[in-house]
Parts: sequence; structure tokens; C-alpha cells
Amino acid sequence: MKTHQSIFAFGVVTTAAFGLAALLASSPAQAITLQTKSINLPTSTRVFPGDSAGAKAANSYCLMCHSVGMVMNQPDLGKAAWLVEVNKMKNAFKAPIPEDQVAVIAGYLDSIKGKK
Ligand code: HEC
Repeated sequence: MKTHQSIFAFGVVTTAAFGLAALLASSPAQAITLQTKSINLPTSTRVFPGDSAGAKAANSYCLMCHSVGMVMNQPDLGKAAWLVEVNKMKNAFKAPIPEDQVAVIAGYLDSIKGKK
């Protein structure tokens, strides 16, 4: 056991040493330019907008399985329909939404995606 370990350790050290030597030998020829790129992500689709209790609850309980887009790309629904939808997430898909947050979230969704 001891012998195996030291042979293994020797192998690791030698491999590392050869690897380093190879890297040093080849490095002058390689010109690596690192660049920083920036992109703008559409912030509105990453979290539910606002900081009301409903927005916070939706952000806490609706985004662990899918994106905001899954909700925002639905047709505008009335509050009753949102209530059905939130309950479906809770009961059928086992979303861990506290009972007292169901109506809060449905009300919030109605305010941002309700039938006008
Ligand atoms: C435990 C995981 C989970 C959580 C948490 C969750 N959902 Fe879903 N949701 C799903 C699944 C699964 C689907 C169906 C996806 C599919 O059909 O491809 C879905 C689909 C949807 C849809 C599309 C319409 C439909 O009924 O299929 C809407 C709208 C939706 N969810 C809203 C919500 C809202 C609002 C919340 C927060 C209250 C939420 N979801 C939380 C799992 C979840």
C-alpha cells in the first residue's frame, strides 16, 4: 500500500515537472491575449419586477423550477386564473409555496399580467 502510494506520488510529481518544463519551453512562442467582453442582459426577464410583497414572494417561490419568462409569456389572466395557476404549481408540481403566499402571488401576477 505504502509502495503504491509513493509510486503514484512519484508519478504525479514527475508528470507535473515535465508538464511545467514543457509549458516553460513553449511559453515564449505563445502570445495569449485575454480580453474582457461585456454583454447586456435584459434585466426585466431575470426576476419579477418590483419590490412589493408579491414580487418578493414570486421571486422566492416561482424561479426555482423555471424562468420568469415561463410566466410572462403567458396570456394575460384574471386573478382567479392566476390563483388556479399558482395552486397548480403548489399542488401538482409540489412548489414549496406557503399557503398564505398563494393569494399574495396571484394578486401580484394579476397586477403585472392581469386582464385589463
Ligand atoms: C416545483 C417546481 C415549480 C415551481 C416552484 C413553480 N413551477 Fe410553474 N411550472 C412547473 C412545471 C413542471 C411546469 C410545466 C412545464 C412544462 O409544461 O413544460 C410549470 C409551468 C408553469 C407555467 C406555464 C403554464 C402551465 O400551467 O404549464 C406557468 C404560468 C407557471 N408555471 C407559473 C408559476 C408560478 C407563478 C410559480 C410560483 C408561484 C411557479 N410556476 C412555480 C414547475 C414549477
